[in-house]
Amino acid sequence: MRHLIDILDLSTQELDQIIAKANDIIDNPGEYSEKCHGKKLATLFFEPSTRTRLSFEAAMYELGGNVLGFSEAKSSSSAKGESVADTASVLSFYADIMAMRHPKEGAPLVAAMNSTVPVINAGDGGHNHPTQTLTDLLTINREKGRFDNLTVGFCGDLKFGRTVHSLIMALTRYANNKIVLISPMELRLPSYIKDTLDKLNIEYIESESLEAVMPELDILYMTRVQRERFFNEEDYLRLKDSYILNPEKLTTAKEDLRIMHPLPRVNEISTAVDKDPRACYFRQAMYGKYVRMSLILYLLGIE
Ligand code: NCD
Repeated sequence: MRHLIDILDLSTQELDQIIAKANDIIDNPGEYSEKCHGKKLATLFFEPSTRTRLSFEAAMYELGGNVLGFSEAKSSSSAKGESVADTASVLSFYADIMAMRHPKEGAPLVAAMNSTVPVINAGDGGHNHPTQTLTDLLTINREKGRFDNLTVGFCGDLKFGRTVHSLIMALTRYANNKIVLISPMELRLPSYIKDTLDKLNIEYIESESLEAVMPELDILYMTRVQRERFFNEEDYLRLKDSYILNPEKLTTAKEDLRIMHPLPRVNEISTAVDKDPRACYFRQAMYGKYVRMSLILYLLGIE
């Protein structure tokens, strides 16, 4: 039995296989509409979500399966003090696979250790978000046609942004990618991830200025400042509008740049950018459903 807790739980070959299957699902949705007949997905969401939870649910329905779960901690027994371990062992009796989002780093790993069915990490605190990374990889595959030789800029909250952490780790699997880290000093990428980049000899630079690096980027991955992870509101208010992407800032960008964002957007991309053909964050959200269909099939061992 396999779980997906960290994106690197999947080999490069498995990543490529899951992306290829997602592309096939996009091309031939009818062939997949009964693949999960009789199967149940549990969505255990202890933190707010729109795209991740609902794309998981849509994915399972489009595979002919069913869904059960909860969308906030207060409607689950965790409000009574139940541990993640106990919730996971009980849910194993009710579902064939589960996706868990939790504010505590490591909670889905604890669930996996106590579950007899596959557990998917749907975001754990400021740590990891591997299924967003699968979504991002499918987007990069469809928009750029390759996973190597890319200069990828990550802009915004690189400290708490779990989608950033997981995508950077995935990009280390492919050759000649250059990582450009754009953030205020206080929101820089955690040093444990930079240490890994150093060990793997992956080229990266840090910049406080988006304008300074814009011309070299193939992909610009914008992120929201993660208000819920801040210790005080004043820091959040001071940092929240550090970067606001607008059409003027894009004048020096490559013509084939792709602008990504895991969403939700707050202020960091002006809505005037939405009609720029280089903006692909809404397509990215659409791909999330297909890649989760592919992942569910993979973890359930369904051909
Ligand atoms: C992200 C998350 O939950 O980490 N959202 C998502 O899953 N698409 C990004 C965010 O909340 O900023």
